[in-house]
Amino acid sequence: MDHSKNTQENTTTLTTIRGMRDILPDETPLWARLEQVARDIFGRYGYRELRTPILEKSGLFARAVGETTDIVEKEMYTFADRNGDSLTLRPEGTASVVRSFIEHGMDRQLPWRVFYMGPMFRYERPQKGRYRQFHQIGCELFGPATAVADAEVMSMVMSYLRAVGVSSQLTLEINSLGCPSCRPAFRQSLTDYFSALKSNLCEDCQRRLERNPLRILDCKQEQCRELSRNSPHTGQHLCGGCEEHFTSVRGFLDGLSQPYQVNNHLMRGLDYYTRTAFEVTTLQLGAQNTVAAGGRYDQLVADMGGPATPAVGFAMGVERLALLLAGQDTVKPPLVYVATLGPAAVLLGLQLAEALRGCGVGVELALAGGSLKSQMKKADRCGAAHTVILGDEEATHRTLLIREMATGEQRRLDYQEGLHFLAAGFGMGGMVP
Ligand code: HAM
Repeated sequence: MDHSKNTQENTTTLTTIRGMRDILPDETPLWARLEQVARDIFGRYGYRELRTPILEKSGLFARAVGETTDIVEKEMYTFADRNGDSLTLRPEGTASVVRSFIEHGMDRQLPWRVFYMGPMFRYERPQKGRYRQFHQIGCELFGPATAVADAEVMSMVMSYLRAVGVSSQLTLEINSLGCPSCRPAFRQSLTDYFSALKSNLCEDCQRRLERNPLRILDCKQEQCRELSRNSPHTGQHLCGGCEEHFTSVRGFLDGLSQPYQVNNHLMRGLDYYTRTAFEVTTLQLGAQNTVAAGGRYDQLVADMGGPATPAVGFAMGVERLALLLAGQDTVKPPLVYVATLGPAAVLLGLQLAEALRGCGVGVELALAGGSLKSQMKKADRCGAAHTVILGDEEATHRTLLIREMATGEQRRLDYQEGLHFLAAGFGMGGMVP
């Protein structure tokens, strides 16, 4: 064994990897709520949870997301496993869901509606709202090709955002990206437009011009973004079918009184979209302003070797939602603090704490002992409504000295009475064993 390496590792400070972070206990109640509301809301629309592996074969993403996308070209965490197989930490969820749809023959169960949540990985430049490990909550619907399906999916996203309390700060932007019959004309007009400006494009985009000019519209470099603002847009090239579909989507959103903005320049960073694409943006997160994004991808299942099946979906960035809601969900304080003075009171304290928890009451038991003063300080700090003070006398007579923290009022009750009093105070009196 190479001990020198071990010693060296032990002396360097251990921290998380750049762009990855711990979600600390102060933040997890908000995260748990974001997840719970997703289960509730998406459940009402008939979506059920799918959990796919975080690691997939690398080829999956090149095929689904697109060889020329930033995600596949620059951002994937790809490595060989011990067998030499190339694996990738998933950079997004749709590719895995489509793989799963095909692998399990879910075309026999259409419409197939699933939601998923969990970490995704992209080697991007970290900044506020942009991380290398981030979390998405997403939904995918397989089967219907209709405009009403797109409208329902967008309405579901907005219902979710309303339910978690962020909708008033958000804008729903929509566009149609066309289909294989109108895409070639759009692509050609982009090639013509950008060819004339080639020398002003960044190096990557000069390359993209040859391979996939649509990707220029998604470039993050300011000089390219500037040129894209005046470029031809999808709206000028839609075929009759796509035009009709987009009109119909807008009609349904209008009929639901769901506000939206048509943004003809909206382009997605993944290749699989057809027809409807949308993003939900906020003015409150600076550059990383998209909290949810998605659209229709009618060719992807067939492109990945499955039976031709239209589909539509979206994903939301949980970190971005959490930033918008920061500080709104705080930890519930324990309702009762149990202070113990002297060894005889410890067992009584332990029994009382367990009995109260059995009645549904949150309890913090003083596990480290200490003076009454220091324990009362801790009781104060944890925000308990009542503190039970147990010393020798209480242990001998099995009584409880209960102090109401807000008023300082104290009462002495016998053990059973005290248990009833504390549990009843929280509406649980009837449950005392
Ligand atoms: P996306 O636009 O790449 O789409 O990501 C969706 C959302 O994930 C973004 O709008 C953002 O909120 C969040 N997100 C993306 N990258 C990061 C990052 N580095 N740090 C923090 N948050 C991030 C997709 O992934 C598609 N699979 C969505 C979809 C589902 N389309 C159809 N179905």
